[in-house]
Amino acid sequence: MDIYEAIRSRRDVRKFRPDPIADDVLKRILDAAHHAPSVGFSQPWRFLLIRNQETRQAVRRLFDEANESARDVYTGERRALYDTFKLEGILESPLNLCVLCDRRTQEPTLGAQSIPETVVFSTCLAIQNLWLAARAEGVGIGWVSILEPEALSSLFELPDGVEIVAYLCVGYPEAFLERPLLEQVGWRPRQPLEDIVFEEHFDPKR
Ligand SMILES: Cc1cc2nc3c(=O)[nH]c(=O)nc-3n(C[C@H](O)[C@H](O)[C@H](O)COP(=O)(O)O)c2cc1C
Repeated sequence: MDIYEAIRSRRDVRKFRPDPIADDVLKRILDAAHHAPSVGFSQPWRFLLIRNQETRQAVRRLFDEANESARDVYTGERRALYDTFKLEGILESPLNLCVLCDRRTQEPTLGAQSIPETVVFSTCLAIQNLWLAARAEGVGIGWVSILEPEALSSLFELPDGVEIVAYLCVGYPEAFLERPLLEQVGWRPRQPLEDIVFEEHFDPKR
């Protein structure tokens, strides 16, 4: 699969088949993530693989709690539509993957003095590599952000300085949709490219 095809056909996946991912496939995907760029070559990403069913049930409960308040911000038709969404695949996917950013350092990270968040940005780039490599392997990824990070951190007993960046569900999808689900059901359209590109000056009215 070429890079543009992987970018275009990558989807956030919430419905998974139970088939496990072979070790060599998983290793290639993680290795692609590990080859992302990082500020000062800090390689701050850490990958916590979670297969244990009890742990996943605990995460699923945290999702339910967080989703109770997340849905409350919508009313009327938007709320009704929100309630039709499946926003996670924590229990059905064969693997959960918690992507961490290790911010503990022996010495200051080259390039991160002015913008310390660049270590977190680097971790996000690893996630994007992982997401695209997974797509090329026919593996789906679903990002679950409806989780209280502090609750998740204490569940995994993370030390100070190690932050959760993403909680991902990983597995073979029922299907890769042609278009994002949220676009397909009319939640939000994709913005035209010309609306988001500026020449020389940012236009605050756009
Ligand atoms: C940072 C981030 C957090 C997300 N959190 C969730 C989530 O909690 N639940 C969910 O169903 N999708 C989540 N998504 C998926 C987005 O809804 C999805 O990427 C977007 O609608 C575009 O669809 P596509 O990824 O299929 O192209 C998240 C995506 C990103 C990048």
